[in-house]
Amino acid sequence: MPISQSSPDKRPPALDARLAAAAAFVRPGHTAADIGCDHGKLSAYLAATGRCPRVLACDVREGPLQKARRTCAPWADRVELRRGDGLAVLAPGEADDIVVAGLGAETIIEILAAAPWVLDGSVNLVLVPATKHGLLRRWLAHNGFALAGETLCNAAGRWYAVMDARYTGQKREPDALWCVCGTVRGQPGAEQYRAWQLGKIKKTRRGLGAGPQAAAVDRLIQQLEADQWP
Ligand SMILES: C[S@@+](CC[C@H](N)C(=O)[O-])C[C@H]1O[C@@H](n2cnc3c(N)ncnc32)[C@H](O)[C@@H]1O
Repeated sequence: MPISQSSPDKRPPALDARLAAAAAFVRPGHTAADIGCDHGKLSAYLAATGRCPRVLACDVREGPLQKARRTCAPWADRVELRRGDGLAVLAPGEADDIVVAGLGAETIIEILAAAPWVLDGSVNLVLVPATKHGLLRRWLAHNGFALAGETLCNAAGRWYAVMDARYTGQKREPDALWCVCGTVRGQPGAEQYRAWQLGKIKKTRRGLGAGPQAAAVDRLIQQLEADQWP
């Protein structure tokens, strides 16, 4: 019997726009790892909907893992819980699709940098930084990842860029405007997202004084105010 007809408590949990966009980037039929799973809703959703035959729900802290255990209990045959830091909980190649959502860009970068096996074209990374989207986009470009997709969404009044990154081996120095705007041009909310990013950059500019870094930020502000897109 399909899960949705078996009993009400076996219905997939509702996801916010950000996690729904992340789930849509997970490739059907693959083993997924949900790093920093916390409440476990994404892991449960991927298992409950049948999108993933196996899900590894992982978190560095025991409290969140206990929440995830409760959320995922109806699909315990498909969801395995693991406690540990970042990707250290996985053997290389164990998960095909790796989601890291709701962590700051610096933490996501630390997690990826500590697992060189993700530099394998077969791994699909779904990344949802809670902060500093541009920093993560720059790191991805520097380290040979391309954005195969990116979905802009708004949840609880904040903008999120849900990134689908694949390793291509082509390292590049991205343009500052690209780092700020990503590849979301034309999507619903793109103009508001740009204005939101511009507001943050202007705030950073106030603390910079003069010098080459300030000049680069001024140029970026001008580009954004002139409605330029990467
Ligand atoms: C804000 S929650 C995000 C939950 C969920 N992924 C989401 O986006 O709604 C962040 C979770 O990441 C976990 N976390 C933080 N650093 C981590 C790391 N290095 N490795 C694994 N989990 C981590 C925290 O314990 C917390 O449960």
